[in-house]
Amino acid sequence: MDFQGISGNFTEAGVDGLAVTLFKNEKASSGLIKDLDKLTGGQISAVIKSDEFKGEVGETALLRLTPKGKLKASRLLLVGLGDRKELKASDIAAAAGTATRALRKANARSIAFSSSNDIGVTEAAQQSAQGAITSQFELDKYKTKEKNDKAVTKFVFHSEGAKGNEIKSGLARGQAIGESMNFTRDLANEPPNILTPTEMANRAQKMAREVGLKCEILDEARMRKMGMGSLLSVSAGSEQPAKMIVLRYTPARNTGKKGDLLGLVGKGITFDTGGISIKPAEGMEAMKYDMSGGATVIGTMRAIALLKPTVPVIGVVAAVENMPDGKASRPSDVVTAMNGKTVEILNTDAEGRLILADAVAYAEQQGATRIVDMATLTGAVIIALGDQNTGIMGNDQAFVDQIISLGKEAGENFWQLPVSKEYSKQIKSDIADIKNIGPRGKAGTIMGAVFIQEFIDKAKWAHLDIAGTAWNDSVRPHQSKGPTAVAVRTLIKLVEKSQ
Ligand code: BES
Ligand code: MN
Ligand code: ZN
Repeated sequence: MDFQGISGNFTEAGVDGLAVTLFKNEKASSGLIKDLDKLTGGQISAVIKSDEFKGEVGETALLRLTPKGKLKASRLLLVGLGDRKELKASDIAAAAGTATRALRKANARSIAFSSSNDIGVTEAAQQSAQGAITSQFELDKYKTKEKNDKAVTKFVFHSEGAKGNEIKSGLARGQAIGESMNFTRDLANEPPNILTPTEMANRAQKMAREVGLKCEILDEARMRKMGMGSLLSVSAGSEQPAKMIVLRYTPARNTGKKGDLLGLVGKGITFDTGGISIKPAEGMEAMKYDMSGGATVIGTMRAIALLKPTVPVIGVVAAVENMPDGKASRPSDVVTAMNGKTVEILNTDAEGRLILADAVAYAEQQGATRIVDMATLTGAVIIALGDQNTGIMGNDQAFVDQIISLGKEAGENFWQLPVSKEYSKQIKSDIADIKNIGPRGKAGTIMGAVFIQEFIDKAKWAHLDIAGTAWNDSVRPHQSKGPTAVAVRTLIKLVEKSQ
């Protein structure tokens, strides 16, 4: 998609479709909307008057401009922005996405988007570009027919009277973020026969070369030498060797706190059968997305490489396949993790925490002082929070609070669950240091978190359980169904706030 910025002459833009936003109950009585209403012979006020369009979030109304009359474009789309008082920057991304999808459906290839609001120009341009790009992602990669071959190839961002460089820098940032989110979504959508741990590592490596990140792939022999018995116990039953993907971003100039290194750690289970504690057949296909946490880390690192913040970041992804086999681990096996702790595996389907144990310990060994891990870790978080909030837990309240508040700015919701000594006691094992499950049916999401916490030494740590938010079951006005790239935007903010 090509991006362009303009600061005047919106009504004369030579594109297939124009899109303008309106707040809830906004009338065509001032500014650009009023001009457009005049130029269309009162079509906008007519649609508003007839109650066809109320300006609700996600709502659209398409006006056909035939004959074209005074506007060059032949389509004009009204896009709802909701309550004026409740407007957040991220709503602009959703509105731009909604506009792009709606005009694409109406066969427009080039569009111009204008939104009059109180969000700063650069921020609004960024949100618009990101929203336009993420709105174009579709699940049809492997279709040979009935592919969604329509595409909006040109997006013109309009902001009356704005400086060209303000728009330009916002569009470039939005493009970097949107494309990186789609990179994450493409990985999460890949079938597991194609996206094996090795392929995931290859994709990360190729991306790293393209954007200028350091990438190191640890193979099983390396991991064995480092004592990662917990992670390796999960890959034992798979024909596919596990890979630890390590991405490093080093800024030209470090303005962060001295000695601080942010570590992003992701669960990259390329397919989760449950292992010997095998899952039921029904719904098992969903487990191709069990590498979404890892995909989020890879996409976020890509965005960071392009945005060039002035702080270092390390990304660690444990890419592993969980399969049942003669070599697979059994319920009752005891393994030793990299930090020396022994783990009694009582359920081989609680595998995410087993690989994250070694991954977070590795990140800390590599110097990470603040760690965010993300994982499609538990079904319990879906029962607790559904698809609207990511579960967050951690060992440092200020760090957790910061992520929750940055999430609000980014348009991503996090809801905290408690971790405490009392919960940690519930994963004590009779025969080893800890066991990988807690009491049946009790606080499943917290049990996953307190397990991972056992492998954090001194770092500040937050755990994001994205099982409910990484995949969208139905299409939305601004995005297709499927992978969401949840947390990418919040993590980018976290990195930029550390500068
Ligand atoms: N990947 C799953 C979590 C999951 C389940 C995500 C359903 C999305 C939908 C994870 O590895 C898992 O199997 N967790 C178990 C843990 C249990 C055995 C303690 C779960 O949540 O049932
Ligand atoms: Mn599992
Ligand atoms: Zn899993």
